[in-house]
Amino acid sequence: MECRSFGGILFRTVVLVIDLGTQLKSFKTVKRRVRSALGEAETKRIFSRAVYLFNIGGNDLFYALFQTSSLVNLNAKQKLVDLIIGNTTSVVEEVYKMGGRKFGFLNVGAYDCAPAASILDTANIGSCNKPVTELIDLHNKKFPDGLRRLQRELSGFKYALHDYRTSLLDRINNPSKYGFKEGNKACCGSGPLRGMPTCGINQTGLSYELCEDVTNYLFFDSAHLTEKAHRQFAELIWSGPPNVTGPYNLKALFELN
Ligand SMILES: *[C@@H]1O[C@H](CO)[C@@H](O)[C@H](O)[C@H]1NC(C)=O
Ligand SMILES: *[C@@H]1O[C@H](CO)[C@@H](O)[C@H](O)[C@H]1NC(C)=O
Ligand SMILES: *[C@@H]1O[C@H](CO)[C@@H](O)[C@H](O)[C@H]1NC(C)=O
Repeated sequence: MECRSFGGILFRTVVLVIDLGTQLKSFKTVKRRVRSALGEAETKRIFSRAVYLFNIGGNDLFYALFQTSSLVNLNAKQKLVDLIIGNTTSVVEEVYKMGGRKFGFLNVGAYDCAPAASILDTANIGSCNKPVTELIDLHNKKFPDGLRRLQRELSGFKYALHDYRTSLLDRINNPSKYGFKEGNKACCGSGPLRGMPTCGINQTGLSYELCEDVTNYLFFDSAHLTEKAHRQFAELIWSGPPNVTGPYNLKALFELN
């Protein structure tokens, strides 16, 4: 069983995502339903053996960029990062209280170098977006401390952390090493690098291009990967070595009692 948590943590992540608090509420409803269908003992067994996968924070950090007025100094950036990590770890603690013991995490990927971000500075199309890079680096530096704290404080808590920032950045910079032709140009969208998020929107005043062969691309649209790319990351999260996914990988977590 897997509990996926896509989306943003904060309400003000304005794109269409379900915030983490709402996802936790829904998950509690799921647990109640499982309990009434299967009973207390079986529910406990299922919830303690499950692996709970969290892939969260990227939207929050990217959209913070559009509220730069409040993020001009390092102190404000640190506050935002602390809030995001605090929210994430507190939801993990809630899932632990519900019986969860095995968790998988991705740090925040190199979305500062995704097509959507790398067209924002029109004088440097194709280069990573510095303010987003700073936020992501700050987050990824602090996030492992939060996970180590949970491991100290919660008996039986085990986790996998995939270094998504490094693995995605390597593919953006060296696409051919991984079977892609394009590292930072989207298959679907418009404008430079097809980095405008218009994929699928065909109406007056807007149009979009769709590439011929999606398997040449790392990014499907301005900020989302292709299926071929996702398969590569899935493999790394599942069975990558400790410097890529650690201290456990997902396979090892599933194999634990
Ligand atoms: C996130 O943290 C803030 C500040 O501690 C808190 O007010 C808010 O309720 C938290 N949200 C979630 C979803 O945990
Ligand atoms: C967009 O709409 C135009 C006009 O209706 C149509 O000719 C074109 O094929 C559409 N493009 C896509 C990608 O659906
Ligand atoms: C992980 O370690 C292996 C060999 O031990 C090395 O080849 C690889 O480059 C390392 N990966 C990262 C992302 O550091």
